[in-house]
Amino acid sequence: MNAPTERRTAAFWPADATRRDILARVLREEQSVSELARRYDMSFAAVQKHVAVLERAGLIVKRARGRERVVNAELAMIQRASQLLRAHEHFDQERATDSPDSDDVWRMSVLKIPQPDDVTPSTRGDLTNVRFLKSDVNSPLIEAGDYTYYDDEGAGGRFEEVNVKYLYGPQRLIIGRFTALGPGVTFLMPGGNHPMVGPSTYPFTMFGGTWGDNTLETFMAIEQPADTVVGNDVWIGREATIMPGISIGDGAIIGAHSVVTRNVEPYAIVAGHPARRIRVRFAPEDVQRLMSSRWWDWPIELITEHAATIMAGTPAELTAIDDERRNT
Ligand SMILES: CC(C)(COP(=O)(O)OP(=O)(O)OC[C@H]1O[C@@H](n2cnc3c(N)ncnc32)[C@H](O)[C@@H]1OP(=O)(O)O)[C@@H](O)C(=O)NCCC(=O)NCCS
Repeated sequence: MNAPTERRTAAFWPADATRRDILARVLREEQSVSELARRYDMSFAAVQKHVAVLERAGLIVKRARGRERVVNAELAMIQRASQLLRAHEHFDQERATDSPDSDDVWRMSVLKIPQPDDVTPSTRGDLTNVRFLKSDVNSPLIEAGDYTYYDDEGAGGRFEEVNVKYLYGPQRLIIGRFTALGPGVTFLMPGGNHPMVGPSTYPFTMFGGTWGDNTLETFMAIEQPADTVVGNDVWIGREATIMPGISIGDGAIIGAHSVVTRNVEPYAIVAGHPARRIRVRFAPEDVQRLMSSRWWDWPIELITEHAATIMAGTPAELTAIDDERRNT
């Protein structure tokens, strides 16, 4: 468990009604510590201590307002704290029915599953290079699903600069859930394409001025590739390059150092320069099973429970889990 998670765990473990109540109040509106202290049947120092624990856990911030100390929460903290409170509600319901598994429920829903909004979700200190993409990008032209990660190999993030080139729009880069992008994966976007419809590929338009005026309309009329789309549960090996407008289907694998110039079918393995199909991962009926069960869209608790089957079971087993999920 990494240090911030450990501190958050300490803030709530064991479940502490006062801390939860303080947190719920602070999420609603800023509170002064003295106001808070009046609400509880305990000493000022005891309330201060609870506030300090929540502050150290990164769930609230404390500031001076004149001679007062006030506490509030910022957006990221609100999201994190709300998740924790929701998980606690679940935990408390389990406890009310006296379930022997209530501790497991708590641990499973809060302590051990990466939060999709985390940027460096791994609990292993040696894997800070593994970053969830969704919260690590700012461009509205990039969309990534939950749990999709990339490996920045210590570059400090910067996916938009390092891994995506010529992202001038309007074409977008859209990536599904649970997709893994190896180090140095590069997406070339259509913004880097030179005109190829006439005698010259020279990009006159790029220089603006009279060249821009004389060529913009012509340039805009040239057909451009579509969005680049990467499905769910795709694995793209290190240093692979994805050419503009490519679509990669769910469950596909792209070999290291490949250059992908053609769309890739779901569950195909392609490799090389240009990337060619090495083989398909499953028979067509199994691909159909996987595409219908869409394990990546299941609730995260169900995914967590069946992670080993998702990793090493059969498509038919995933269908069975999906059927049961739909029927309950
Ligand atoms: C694509 C990959 C998954 C295929 O693995 P595999 O199924 O075990 O494939 P094999 O080693 O049996 O190779 C099958 C064929 O594909 C070729 N091949 C495999 N990977 C290739 C690659 N990256 N580029 C070009 N050709 C490749 C092999 O030469 C072999 O060709 P042959 O049948 O003519 O002899 C694997 O080679 C790969 O590139 N993995 C990515 C590793 C990586 O980047 N990790 C970083 C962390 S994300």
